Amino acid sequence: MELKSIVPWGRSLAEYVAMFNLTEANLQQKILGCGDGPASFNTELTKLGGDVISIDPIYAFSAQEISEQIQAVYPEIKARVSQNLTSFVWSQFDSVEDLCEIRMQTMSLFLEDYGGRNSGDRHQNQALPKLSFSDKSFDLALCSHLLFLYSQQLDAAMHIASILELCRVAKEVRIYPLVTLSGELSSYLDFVRAELLTAGIKTELKDVDYEFQRGATQMLVAKWQ
Ligand SMILES: C[S@@+](CC[C@H](N)C(=O)[O-])C[C@H]1O[C@@H](n2cnc3c(N)ncnc32)[C@H](O)[C@@H]1O
Repeated sequence: MELKSIVPWGRSLAEYVAMFNLTEANLQQKILGCGDGPASFNTELTKLGGDVISIDPIYAFSAQEISEQIQAVYPEIKARVSQNLTSFVWSQFDSVEDLCEIRMQTMSLFLEDYGGRNSGDRHQNQALPKLSFSDKSFDLALCSHLLFLYSQQLDAAMHIASILELCRVAKEVRIYPLVTLSGELSSYLDFVRAELLTAGIKTELKDVDYEFQRGATQMLVAKWQ
């Protein structure tokens, strides 16, 4: 994987809590963060005593390399959001500047932790659709802003194989958002859910208390029947 092809952009624990309806009880479970990238979810939850492992192919790179890539993509992301203001709901951020400042603070938290001595096994260089963990290693797997969002880059087979793998390693899987980068509901959603059902996995759509991409108000919950 080439770091240049990645757009590192990370969210906070508070955003994960809202995107995935995480309760206090959930936060005490053994959690897998899948495709966590430079999110500070792992860093912040660990500080609160949580038990979380994040996987992402970006963890093949050093903190310095990831930091340089964040700086490189920052102007491009800022420009893209500025050109598409109405595609987003501006309730939690005051402006594009505010959004970017908060994202940079979040990613700084991650970089400080990731580059430090206590990052250990909490950030692992692994990638869907194949993970090294044994069956049911986690209570909960969370996948934020990867599956369904990148429907143009990842095909339906990749989605099915990835969700089956997440259901293998975790008792419950939550995925958000279900819209693509263009903001429409992923065209894979119904097909993927039907294929999972055939494989014995029940899925549900649940409303969440989070909306930044307009219309992205639901997560997918998947578990063995
Ligand atoms: C848009 S970022 C989302 C980061 C974080 N989850 C968040 O919501 O703030 C998408 C992440 O998915 C990671 N990724 C790309 N392909 C992946 C794969 N096959 N398996 C796991 N993660 C992957 C990227 O490296 C990137 O860090």
